Amino acid sequence: MRYETPSLTRWNARAYDSSFGYVSAHGAPLVELLDPRPGERVLDLGCGTGVLTADIARRGAHVLGIDGSHSMIEQAIAHHPGLDFTVGDGYDFTVAQPYDAVFSNAALHWMSRDPDAVIGCVREALRPGGRFVAEMGGAGNCAALTAAVFTAWREYGLREPELPWYFPSPAEYALRLEKGGFTVRLLEYFDRPTPLDECPNGAADWVRMFAGSLLDRVPPAAVEPLLRRVNELAAPALRRETGWMADYVRLRFAAERR
Ligand SMILES: C[S@@+](CC[C@H](N)C(=O)[O-])C[C@H]1O[C@@H](n2cnc3c(N)ncnc32)[C@H](O)[C@@H]1O
Repeated sequence: MRYETPSLTRWNARAYDSSFGYVSAHGAPLVELLDPRPGERVLDLGCGTGVLTADIARRGAHVLGIDGSHSMIEQAIAHHPGLDFTVGDGYDFTVAQPYDAVFSNAALHWMSRDPDAVIGCVREALRPGGRFVAEMGGAGNCAALTAAVFTAWREYGLREPELPWYFPSPAEYALRLEKGGFTVRLLEYFDRPTPLDECPNGAADWVRMFAGSLLDRVPPAAVEPLLRRVNELAAPALRRETGWMADYVRLRFAAERR
């Protein structure tokens, strides 16, 4: 049977690379923070199409990319034939041999159902002293975008949608890491306004790509006008002369398995 993490069935790996390549493009500082060394074993959790997995491999590390989406892994294998990728679930994965580091960019906030289970799997995948280096959405991430969604849904008489993400505060996530057997060595929480250069249709394109599940309960005829309304509502906060700017807030950390 083909395994697909439930919240992931909408990922379109081709569109992801062509329109949302900025996600991995912003990952370079995180690879610097990881500082992979030749010969190290690194696991890239939620690797997507493998762009950062390949960056890590170029630094001489042995890296395995895992992702819950078949379409992402298929794309990763096609683009990086010499590297190792596998389909796996962040809530429930095991490894045969411990890793020196687990890396994760822009993926942990998608594992919203049980963040402690994810942290537990990461801990078990690491040797003692191994590093967990990651960046995810933090509290307040995309607040203007999601406020526009809520208002538009309300105006159309639709039930308030449940957002699929987990955007923790630094204190909350640090506590989870500490309780989960990690020592937090670095934790940064910062605004990262992000140009949506590849989204000619602004917030509407963003909703389709990243929050497509919200449209599940929307009558098909209402989708277009609803998304147009999202754009109108989001525009004052997010539309600049140069284009759309998403109001991203990031949480970046480096922790060590005790
Ligand atoms: C925004 S993409 C980031 C991909 C890549 N790390 C990058 O920087 O481009 C988020 C990724 O997390 C993956 N993901 C979400 N939930 C997951 C889960 N429970 N287990 C494994 N991967 C998951 C998605 O399939 C998707 O590829």
